[in-house]
Amino acid sequence: MSNLLVTGGAGFIGANFIHYWMSTYRQDKVVVLDALTYAGNKANLEPVAENANFYFCQGNICDTHLVETLLKEHRIDTLVHFAAESHVDRSISGPDAFIETNIIGTHSLLKAAKKVWLDDGVNKDNHRFHHVSTDEVYGTLGPEDPAFSETTPYAPNSPYSASKAASDHLVRAYHHTYGLKVTTSNCSNNYGPYHFPEKLIPLVITNILQDKPLPVYGDGQQIRDWLYVEDHARGIDLVIKKGHLGECYNIGGINEWANLDIVKLICELMNSEFAENPELTNKYPKAVSAIAGKAQSLVTFVKDRAGHDRRYAIDPQKSNSELDYQPQESFASGIRKTLQWYLENDSWWQAVMDGSYRQWIDQQYSTAEQAGDR
Ligand code: NAD
Ligand code: DAU
Repeated sequence: MSNLLVTGGAGFIGANFIHYWMSTYRQDKVVVLDALTYAGNKANLEPVAENANFYFCQGNICDTHLVETLLKEHRIDTLVHFAAESHVDRSISGPDAFIETNIIGTHSLLKAAKKVWLDDGVNKDNHRFHHVSTDEVYGTLGPEDPAFSETTPYAPNSPYSASKAASDHLVRAYHHTYGLKVTTSNCSNNYGPYHFPEKLIPLVITNILQDKPLPVYGDGQQIRDWLYVEDHARGIDLVIKKGHLGECYNIGGINEWANLDIVKLICELMNSEFAENPELTNKYPKAVSAIAGKAQSLVTFVKDRAGHDRRYAIDPQKSNSELDYQPQESFASGIRKTLQWYLENDSWWQAVMDGSYRQWIDQQYSTAEQAGDR
């Protein structure tokens, strides 16, 4: 039996991880620490909210004293650290929050964990700090380059990835210097339920349903390696259970797609959904292009992201051989499941989009329109 502290548990991956964990390990206690920023949403935790082993604390990871208290009061033995500013575009327009949460915040957690677990000796021999990181720390690949392995040198290109790289180094340093029992996972692009609709896949799905433009940056030929979010949760579970202390593990789907192809695929799937299920027309009357079988007509090429990484791809050899990790969801089934989830959960994404995210995206669009970009 374990007691987990999950930071950022009200976000996309954190919430999916908690759903996975609490249905897999029913005896474990799960405490969430989340600041509920624009990306955090308690509704993401509704499936577990009534569970007697579930606790929610609204607070900031930069509050070292609060983290120490949670570690002691709940006798936490496993800290799984998801909390972050996670959107690359926001890191370009406002990097400060990324430095604050991703670097200072991670260091605050490390200090608290060292104090309680090592200095005060609570769970001294039986603790784990698992840090959730990204493949973006490795930079960008050319078309023929080998995929990122755990020995690929770090070369982050955005304020987001630079802040994640810094946090990875701090986690490593606390292991080597103080003996904190740490592991890190570096994962590729996730998709699935509860994905905030500022990211490519949920943005395209929800914009089709509102008949809004589908913004494709630059030529749309940038490549990402997509993984269903529950497969990420399963990978983190294996790293916690079987990973070697102080080591990093890459988690990915061997599933490279150019952005434009993903957008076109979602358009085709959405056209078919509307053709096969006439009741969707009543539910989503605004989706006139998809209703007419022409969602592709919404594709709009816009100015490229500054410093846009061209290609990411994960070499999963180490997690395959050391952890016996394999993704279970195929992309064909995962993307259909995801689309179904958004079609069925319009109340979730409508509420998300009525909030502060809406104001931010409107502001981005009006600024870009003024500049003649979009
Ligand atoms: P997200 O933006 O959906 O969620 C982040 C969560 O962290 C939110 O609930 C937010 O309220 C919380 N948070 C932010 N700042 C906080 C603070 N100072 N204190 C406490 N809570 C705070 O992010 P996500 O997509 O779920 O990503 C989770 C983690 O996984 C991040 O560390 C990210 O770098 C990493 N990651 C994401 C992907 C991906 O494809 N989304 C891929 C690989 C790795
Ligand atoms: O690789 C892992 C990373 O994946 C995570 O560390 C990040 O937290 C996560 O946000 C994601 O980063 P990306 O920048 O790859 O994801 P995003 O969904 O923002 O964009 C995916 C690709 O689609 C990217 O090449 C940019 C492009 N894009 C994105 C948006 C939002 C568009 O063409 N149009 C868009 O409107």
